[in-house]
Order: sequence, then C-alpha cells, then structure tokens
Amino acid sequence: MLKPYTPALDMSDIQATVLRPRPSPYVGEYVVLRIDDAAQGREMLRRIIPHVAPADEWWVPSLPGWLGIAFTYQGLKALGLPQASLDSFPVEFRQGMAARAAILHDFGGNAPSNWEYPFGNSDMHVALAVYSDNEQHLGEILARAGQSHHDLAHVSVVYRMRFNELPGGRNPFGFRDGLHNPHVEGSVAEEDGFVPAASNASIKAGEFVMGYPDELGQTALAPIPGELRHNGTFVAFRKFHMDVAAFRKYLRAHASSPEEEELLAAKMVGRWRSGAPLVLAPDHDDPALGGDATRNNDFSYADDMKGLKCPFSAHTRRINPRDALKDDVVNVNLHKFLRRGTNYGSALPEGVLEDDGAERGGVFLLIGAHLQRQFEFVQSQWATDGNFISHGAEQDPLVGNNDGEGVFTIPKIPVRRRLHGLPCFVSVRGGEYCFMPGLRALQWLARLGDNAD
Ligand code: HEM
Repeated sequence: MLKPYTPALDMSDIQATVLRPRPSPYVGEYVVLRIDDAAQGREMLRRIIPHVAPADEWWVPSLPGWLGIAFTYQGLKALGLPQASLDSFPVEFRQGMAARAAILHDFGGNAPSNWEYPFGNSDMHVALAVYSDNEQHLGEILARAGQSHHDLAHVSVVYRMRFNELPGGRNPFGFRDGLHNPHVEGSVAEEDGFVPAASNASIKAGEFVMGYPDELGQTALAPIPGELRHNGTFVAFRKFHMDVAAFRKYLRAHASSPEEEELLAAKMVGRWRSGAPLVLAPDHDDPALGGDATRNNDFSYADDMKGLKCPFSAHTRRINPRDALKDDVVNVNLHKFLRRGTNYGSALPEGVLEDDGAERGGVFLLIGAHLQRQFEFVQSQWATDGNFISHGAEQDPLVGNNDGEGVFTIPKIPVRRRLHGLPCFVSVRGGEYCFMPGLRALQWLARLGDNAD
C-alpha cells in the first residue's frame, strides 16, 4: 500500500517562533503596536519583514536575534484585509480571547476587566515577540524593529514588556521549564542532531501549521485566500503573574518537613523541580534525569494508571495526558499545541514566604492551527474541570482558577489524601488570540493596498 503523501515543511516560509525553541539563556521583549492608518501599517510591515526569522535560520541565524510577528483580528482589519477574508477566520479568533472568558474560566481576579492594557482591548493590533541570546543583540534587533515605524505617526507602540531567563532555566516557582513539546512531523532535520523521545510520537504538521494534513487527514481551507493562510498558524498569548510566596506558604502549611514540601510541589506539577518526571522518579528528585533531554520526556502513564506516582490532577498529567486516557474516547493528538514560554521579573529569594509585591511570572505562546480544539479545549476541559479524570469540579492545582476554594487529590494506599483551600497560585494578567502568518503571507499582507494606491 502506498504511504500517504506528506509534503515537506517549507521551513524558509514558516516563522521560527512556531517551530523552534527559544534560545537558552534568553532575553527578550514583547511589543504591541496599534495601527491607525492602513497604508502606514503596511509600510511598517514592509520594513519589518526582512527582520522576521524563518524556521530554517534558527540554528545559524543571519540576524542578531529572532523576531516573530502576529496579528489580532483587529490588527488585520486595521491593515485593510478585505471583509470576506476577515469573515473566513474562526469565530474564536474574530471574537478575541476576552470575549471567550466564560469558556476559558477567566472570571474573578482573572476576568478581562482586571487585565493589563491593551489586552482585551481593540487597541491591540500587532504583537512582536523578540528573543535574543544577550542584551546587546537584543538592543540591535529591537532597534531594527523600532526603525520600521519610528517616522510613521499612525503606528504606535502601546505595550512593551521585557522577559529573561531565570538562573538554571527555572520558572519563578523554581521548576525547570520548556521541557516538553510535541514533535511536529517533518520539522526536524537530521543535521539538527535532535532525537525525539521514542514515547513522544510525531504529530501531523497540519495540527500546527496550515497547508499540511492534520491528524484528521484534513488540510485547512480557511482563512481565505490560500496565500494568507499557507504556513500560518494561531497563537494564544497568555500572561500570568505567579504568586510564589503563596505557593511556598501552601507547601509549608501542608507538609511536615522540607522533603515533604518538595514531594507535594512535585505532586502538583507532575515533575520535580529539576524536571524529572514523577512516573520515572516517584520518591525522590533525580537531577541527572531532569537534566537529560533524551530521558526526561521518555515516559508514559501506562504503569501508573492508579495515579500513585503522578496524581491524575497534576498539572503536566492533566494538560498532556499522553497515554493516560487511552481507554477514553478522547483522541489526545487532537488537543496538542506548541508551547513557547518565557519568564519575567526576578526570582523571589530562596526561603522568603512573604510576597514582596514584585511582578513576576510567565508568558506563554500556545501555538496551533485549531484554537478551539487545542488551547480552548485544554483550558476548559482539562485545566479547569475535573470531569475527565472523575474528579468533579477539581481544577489544575497550579493553573486552575482556584480562588481559595481549590481541592487537590493525591491517590494513595490505603486512603487518598485530599487537600483543600488552594488559592490561585497564578493569575491571568492578559491574553489575546493572534494569527502568525508565513513569510510570503506577510509580503502578501504588505502588498494589500497596492492596486488601490
Ligand atoms: C503560570 C502558569 C504555568 C506554569 C507555572 C506552568 C508550569 C509548567 C511546568 C513546570 C511544566 C513542566 C516542564 C515543562 O515541560 O515545561 C509544564 C508543562 C506543561 N504545561 Fe504548564 N505551566 C503554566 C501554564 C500552562 C498553560 C496555560 C498551559 C496550557 C493551557 C500549559 C501547558 C503545559 C503542557 C502541555 C506541558 C507539558 C506537559 C508534559 O510534560 O507532558 N501550562 N508547565
């Protein structure tokens, strides 16, 4: 039988941010622009395109950093995209993340009314994600980005935020992050020297980039025209504040020793702070395992179907159940996305249990061709509802909207342990849905007004 034809990915046309990890160490900045004049918006785009990094330039970059560019629905409108094309985008993208708050469980402190400007506001048009490996290079690439609009009165910067890697590649809670991502079929060249873990099966490229077959064998037909969508994708941008003092205090109050605190923290996350997965290291942290990229993702939940090693409700198990739902009707491959996370702010010094009022946390770019069945499904069904693991309304202990009422169940023999009173350890500071086009599509967008001029 003939193998189904899978077109090779056009790495020179797909933005690096989609398929490539961020550098380590990294520094960077997110910049948001507002466009008040379509022609000036397109001029800005023409000037910035040469600085946008394609995926094939990740390993040997010709630029001092990596710039990614994406547009909100309002941004595409401001650039003058024809109505028929605007109407062809999926409803969740057209509405924007704030309008989806009820689905995403963004209420209480996480409600869009509490978000930072310009999130949830129609002023957010163009989002730039700029990464570099050092401050000097970052300054150079930011200067180039700035040149694209410095003399354009109707293109303005409405938001800037710096981000940087914390010591040891840890997040503010002290966990190593950025360890797992799905393996995109056709995205890795042998010369990259990267060997995906055997248990991390390849996922069809169409799940993450439009123009290729997805897990259902379908190739995206919208948005139109094809020139705009080919090699493009969607990004769910989420900015979180992390309340590190609250996390430490909760551990202290519910454990009887520092070792037990560490175990409880690992049970909430599904990995030890070093990154070692609980299913491979159930009793003690194993820093060598955590730091070994060939082993720290090579695991499944098949030997832990009672959750005695890694609780069903642990963040990583809920949000990426791997083979844990294999008896279920759910096809987990339809709910994967690429995750590009960065941290911001300084670390709260070791041992401090009182909040110092500083802003610190993480920004996630959750990337995939299907916002609704990927990010929205995972956020609404797996992160903020416990039904799929028979845990009623129990939410993710780390990223759930718990608000002081949260519950966390740790399976144990002879009796499970159930913790109560979990607060929100993380709060949403803002978010938005963006469309991240391929490089030729950026050119197409920049030429939009040519016939009218
Ligand atoms: C402030 C918020 C968050 C924190 C502190 C956090 C923390 C972590 C940590 C420590 C890991 C394990 C290491 C790694 O692979 O990076 C992880 C994995 C993961 N997180 Fe989060 N996360 C947050 C938000 C989210 C959100 C909003 C999503 C998606 C809706 C998400 C999806 C995932 C996925 C898919 C994994 C991989 C799981 C695996 O290893 O199998 N996370 N997260």
